[in-house]
Formats: sequence, structure tokens, C-alpha cells
Amino acid sequence: MEELKKKAAYEAVKTVKDGMIVGLGTGSTAKYAILKLGEMVKEGLDIIGIATSLESERIARQAGIKIADINDYDSIDITIDGADQVDDNLNLIKGGGGALLREKIVASCSKREIIVVDESKIARSFSYPLPVEVVKFGWKRTAEKLAKLNFKPHIRHGFVTDNGNYILDCEYDKLENVKEIEAEINNLPGVVENGLFIGLASEIIIGKREGIEIMRKENK
Ligand code: A5P
Repeated sequence: MEELKKKAAYEAVKTVKDGMIVGLGTGSTAKYAILKLGEMVKEGLDIIGIATSLESERIARQAGIKIADINDYDSIDITIDGADQVDDNLNLIKGGGGALLREKIVASCSKREIIVVDESKIARSFSYPLPVEVVKFGWKRTAEKLAKLNFKPHIRHGFVTDNGNYILDCEYDKLENVKEIEAEINNLPGVVENGLFIGLASEIIIGKREGIEIMRKENK
């Protein structure tokens, strides 16, 4: 599996050019991209990275990539990030690593959002428990509200996000009308953000045993 992740990540970094502002994703697949970009920087590539987590920032700095504050740049040229599950419409479930809030902010400011995954992440319909970032205050009450939307929320034990919040991993029988459900979840008091990424990915680079497959969205 690691080889497939690497294949996808290495294909994605080919899109990065001198002078770009590059969003750096979180997770084991995105890490391969960050490390490769670090090698390219050592060979002369001139980029500025915007990290989607403290962990990615640490890895990137160690790899020699300059890191900037997202507040200092009004848009990001390319972001390379991973995902926990991808459906046929290039919608994603993210947040398995708990970085979904910063990942979604960065994705929403990116001209091009490239998702790198191995083939096991592709699904007809979603089944991966949906991570929901909630504030600590009243999290059990927020969990009850999620249960009313037919989710079975489980607190991620011993985990606090980079933003000081909790994660509720929400199981479900079926996840349909994802655009509506994304908004509905975010409308609950106590919810900061959820891991449904709808219409944000421009392309999915899939590392497969037999090579690379790319799924593209026309208008991003
Ligand atoms: C981080 O919060 C997630 O959104 C990651 O992008 C996701 O968990 C993918 O990670 P892996 O590449 O390690 O599977």
C-alpha cells in the first residue's frame, strides 16, 4: 500500500512549479508529497508551503520547505492532500487524521485541490465513519444532535485537534444527499466543521498496482 500512496504523491508533485504557493496536506500519503517537495526544494525549486496541520508544518520545515501563514496569501495555487474515502463524483470524506478543519479551509482557498490516494480509498458510496470536529463545551449534547440526524457518534478518545477541539467519528447506515447533510451538520450548535468535502477536489490521483489513474473535475 505504501508504494501505491507514494506513486500517487510523486505524480502530484509534478504539477508544482517555481513561485507557487502550495498547500501541504496531512496524513501518510500527503507526507510522501511533502518529503518529495522537500527534495525538489533542495534541488532549487522555489515554493512557499501552507500547512494543513502542525504535524505537516513540522515535516515540511524539517524537509527544508518555507512555511507561511495562510492569512498572508489570498489564494493557494495547488494543494496536495490525502483522503479517507473518495466517491464517483470526486466528493471526499476526510479527517481520519483529525486535520479536517484546516484542510477544508486550505482546500476552499486553493485554485487546484489535488487528492492523492491508493486504490483502496475509492468507493461507490461512502462507508468511512464521518469525522466531525466539535467544541469541547457541551460535546455530549452536540453528539445527541448528530444522533438525531441518524449518526452514531463516537468520541475519538485521547484526541484534541490542532484547534483545541474534539472529534466525533460518526457511523451511519447510508450517506446520501451529501451536500445537504454537510450543511445540516455544520448548522448544529457546537459543530465546527465536518469531514465531507463536496465539490472541493479538482482531481484525484489514484495509485494502483498497475499504474496511475486520474479522475478529473472539469470546472476546477
Ligand atoms: C487528515 O485529517 C485526513 O483528512 C487525511 O487526509 C486522511 O486521513 C488520509 O490519510 P492517509 O493518507 O494517511 O490515509
